[in-house]
Amino acid sequence: MRVAFVSAEMYPFAKTGGLGDVASTLPKALAAIGCDVKVFIPKYALIDHSKYDLSYIWAIGEMPIRVGGYPHKVNVYKTMLKETQVEIYFIDCPYYFNRPYIYSSNPDEDERFILFQKAVIESLQRLQWKPDIIHCNDWQTGLIPLLLKDNYNWDKKFYGKTATIMTIHNIAYQGRFPKKSVEKAEIRPALFYPNSAIESWGSFCFLKAGLMYADAINTVSKMYAWEITNSDFGHGLESALRYRINDFYGILNGIDYGVWNPETDKKIPYHFSPDNPEGKKENKKQLCHAFNLPHYENVPVIGIVSRLVNLKGFNLIAESVPELMKLNAQWIVLGVGEDKYENLFRSLAYSFPDKVSTYIGFDDILSHLIEAGSDMFLMPSFTEPCGLNQIYSLKYGTVPIVRKTGGLADTVKDWDEEYNHGSEKTGTGFSFTDFTGLAMTSCIKRAFDTFTNRKDFWRQIMYNGMTRNFSWDVSAGKYLELYKKAIHNRENMW
Ligand code: ADP
Ligand code: GLC
Repeated sequence: MRVAFVSAEMYPFAKTGGLGDVASTLPKALAAIGCDVKVFIPKYALIDHSKYDLSYIWAIGEMPIRVGGYPHKVNVYKTMLKETQVEIYFIDCPYYFNRPYIYSSNPDEDERFILFQKAVIESLQRLQWKPDIIHCNDWQTGLIPLLLKDNYNWDKKFYGKTATIMTIHNIAYQGRFPKKSVEKAEIRPALFYPNSAIESWGSFCFLKAGLMYADAINTVSKMYAWEITNSDFGHGLESALRYRINDFYGILNGIDYGVWNPETDKKIPYHFSPDNPEGKKENKKQLCHAFNLPHYENVPVIGIVSRLVNLKGFNLIAESVPELMKLNAQWIVLGVGEDKYENLFRSLAYSFPDKVSTYIGFDDILSHLIEAGSDMFLMPSFTEPCGLNQIYSLKYGTVPIVRKTGGLADTVKDWDEEYNHGSEKTGTGFSFTDFTGLAMTSCIKRAFDTFTNRKDFWRQIMYNGMTRNFSWDVSAGKYLELYKKAIHNRENMW
């Protein structure tokens, strides 16, 4: 099966969050079960050309790609990461991508990704590499299914059998633009009218177009799939999802234990395993040292690695500061995002220098050290499509404290709930339901009490998490099934 995997991010080239991880690990897992996969991402200025040995693709050459009638020059480069056997194609258009960021709120954000999507479609044509599936991820790739079925439908010989799938990594980000963008994308104006397949609340919505035109759609956990179709969490797209309900699935993300495994992780100072967890204590010392905090074996370190945005639930932390600071715990926060949260953590670090330390920035090595050295990991998300950090935390014996939503609910089992209902010692973390500071604080206190008073239980919780398996093996197989379903739909519905 030939799969073109299209994404705005891919680790290690360009990443702001979990999409970057998935775009590098899922293609690898698909290749391992026999798929022939090529990944496409934009060539952002922050990608170090020399480090990755990019080669120019003469077979594609310079392409004129039109946005709003104006042709931009586009070239394509590729590389192959040795360990993956997956080719990565970089769409180069300096006019749009030679900027020091991945996403922006610039007025031409729509144009950047219109260009990207068309360039992917035309690169494949020029390469004469006919994909069975184009796997689209998030709104930046949402127009591809429509473009294929309409604008490029003249090329039936090449694209006549190619099916598309649309994966929602976060429905809160939809790529909504003014009507004018329809022209820029050169999409037939007649397709835009109230409640049409590309219109949502007056705007041209890239994600909705993807959901309506792709041959099959999915999101990244079963619980989130349920939430966004059945409640207010659909951010205005719930009826589109309900319309596609027979083709809509939840497939939990996997993680790459080649990168995130405390027994082999090259980015952490001491290795450890479920049966030999001693190295974790040493990592905790290093972590406290790196973050300039005093080290106490019996005081829990609570780690946070996150985009600092509302959806991640940081307002709960903001409103609970007095209670949280009374706890005899230490807090280590790594993140970038909204000013109000960056400032919150900066000011806490200033006011409680022995208790709170923060690094405002993006740092891969520190994120591994925090997973390896912390005792607990906090994710109080308002919504969480899947979430990867809690899964990394489980593997690193860093007990997750999460709100029971989306993928967090699907991956973390509350210790007390399991124990109280039948003495099952199978819990892997602590979770709370109500999105309130009170519910979060009492959940943190439960974790704190167990850490402090029941070392035996704590070790069991760590062990339970460390021995759970969230590798891609199972989920990659589910994607393959989804691809087959999409191909079947393509043959029978269009
Ligand atoms: P989301 O994609 O919504 O941000 P996920 O939990 O799925 O949430 O994935 C976040 C990914 O981004 C993880 O790999 C996490 O380690 C990484 N990450 C987030 N913020 C930072 C940061 N400031 N520095 C390093 N890595 C980060
Ligand atoms: C999104 C979601 C996150 C998910 C990631 C990868 O950024 O917010 O929950 O894990 O995509 O699918």
